[in-house]
Amino acid sequence: MADKKFTITAALPYANGPLHLGHVAGVYLPSDIFARFARLNGDDVLFVCGSDEHGAAITLRAKKEGITPQEIVDKYHSIISTSFSKFNISFDIYHRTSSEVHHQTSQDFFKKLQERAKFIEETTDQYYDLEFNQFLADRYIIGTCPKCSYENAFGDQCEKCGSDLSPLDLINPISTLSGKQPVLKSTSHWYLPMDKHEDWLKEYIQKGIFDGQTHHNPKLWRNQVVGQCMSWINGGLKPRAMTRDLDWGVKVPLPNSEGKVLYVWLDAPIGYISATKAWAEKNKKDWKKYWVKSESEERKLVHFIGKDNIVFHAIIFPILLKDHGDFILPDNVPASEFLNLEGDKFSTSRNWAVWLHEYLENYPDKEDELKYVLTSIAPESKDSEFTWKEYQARINNELADILGNFINRTLVLTHKYYGGKVPACGALTETDKELINDIQQTPFRIAELIYAYKFREAQTEAMSLARLGNKYLADQEPWKLIKTDPERVKTILNLSIQITANLALVFQPFLPKTAIRLQTILGVTFSSWGYAGTTSLIAENHEINKPEILFAKIDDEFVYNEVNKLKNQNDETHEI
Ligand code: 2FM
Ligand code: ZN
Repeated sequence: MADKKFTITAALPYANGPLHLGHVAGVYLPSDIFARFARLNGDDVLFVCGSDEHGAAITLRAKKEGITPQEIVDKYHSIISTSFSKFNISFDIYHRTSSEVHHQTSQDFFKKLQERAKFIEETTDQYYDLEFNQFLADRYIIGTCPKCSYENAFGDQCEKCGSDLSPLDLINPISTLSGKQPVLKSTSHWYLPMDKHEDWLKEYIQKGIFDGQTHHNPKLWRNQVVGQCMSWINGGLKPRAMTRDLDWGVKVPLPNSEGKVLYVWLDAPIGYISATKAWAEKNKKDWKKYWVKSESEERKLVHFIGKDNIVFHAIIFPILLKDHGDFILPDNVPASEFLNLEGDKFSTSRNWAVWLHEYLENYPDKEDELKYVLTSIAPESKDSEFTWKEYQARINNELADILGNFINRTLVLTHKYYGGKVPACGALTETDKELINDIQQTPFRIAELIYAYKFREAQTEAMSLARLGNKYLADQEPWKLIKTDPERVKTILNLSIQITANLALVFQPFLPKTAIRLQTILGVTFSSWGYAGTTSLIAENHEINKPEILFAKIDDEFVYNEVNKLKNQNDETHEI
């Protein structure tokens, strides 16, 4: 199963605000688990991300905070990248789209498409704000959605019904800059004729549905991704402008294009390529190996995203990559559904959010606890919900009572009976043989699930090994047998130590800090998934260190305080 080649990307977050738990659960944690696992399994992995620093999301935020777009992206790039490194997300590089290499790469990409006649240049009438002297596209214009009548639909999309819109579709359009009705003015832009790509796209996306393999087929695209793409394509793709009249972004690299920049959704995904270039430059590698098609090696491009980004990664970016001609296309686009919070949607404007940087400041030693909880409830196939009550229950009943308890009992007994030296494994009973069989199967099941992008189930599978260990100890009762059959106890504890060592390995993708802490306690280092499943991970007589409590329990007061904090920060927003 090993030796695959992956270029893994995680959606570039807009540098217009901090990250909340919804972003983490949907994109950054699953991609990190995948990357960590694949590396451990011996795959050739590159995992890239960075800040998305262009587009109306940035300029409108700058206007709101009364500072420049550059100040906005510097501020949030710093907050976001610090949070990622504190949260131990294992990107090979966290880059930014304001960098020189990114501007150059995006411009080269655009020029290549222009040279290959992949765009249509067209002059049309577009809405214009006379007060601000600016054309209004995307989030600069709102109006009533022609499809669902939602009154605050944006110029590019209705957030209520998800329809793809253009400003001219809006009923009663209003400029978000001046709040006034815009006028029409002529301007020219480069359009991507997406309608010409429907046939091959259909085939490309259908390939992701079934290619005759098992239900854990890694090629299997998630239902919601295929569903959304097919409904877009079946609804008829329309040409989409790839440039904007703005002064913030990557400049259009053509003559007579003053005041025009690339559409943010053209430059942002190219950010994955420029991040790769920056990483390769620093590490003396060849960036092309990670992106350019090759006869001799098959590399899989995998985009981890939230569901609001599906069309850009599964339709538009594949068109751009194909039009360019040199590059591989996404092998899978594991998009997540949304995470809700305490019965409501995450909302930045209402401050209904648990912010990652605040969590990490308040609980710097509880990073793995958060990872565990978020993976347990990850919105993989449907929306899910984070509540502090569930956070408490998962930590207390699973991390502390199952995983922590099993490890602690094993280590305490080994110290008590054998002074910390691993006892020998003697004759095996039928129960032992069944246990060994389960230990052997677990890493295969986990690997299969992770390669199929089923991280929730994969983590449950890892936890089931600890459950198995707990049951084994409870059934075998070594604390009673020590008086009547001390030889048997040696075997029981040897096998329990082997389970503990396996836990230190199989939890590495999910709980990296805890897994390393456990390896330190055991006095071993595991650098390959290939060792998982064996019961000879720790040799007889090997001396283990004293146990530590791995997970502290969460009391009711903690939950009460967190829920109150959330309600108070939300009330304060209402007062402003
Ligand atoms: O939705 C977002 O937050 C975008 N900034 C994601 C961009 S992903 C990629 F294309 F860069
Ligand atoms: Zn709508």
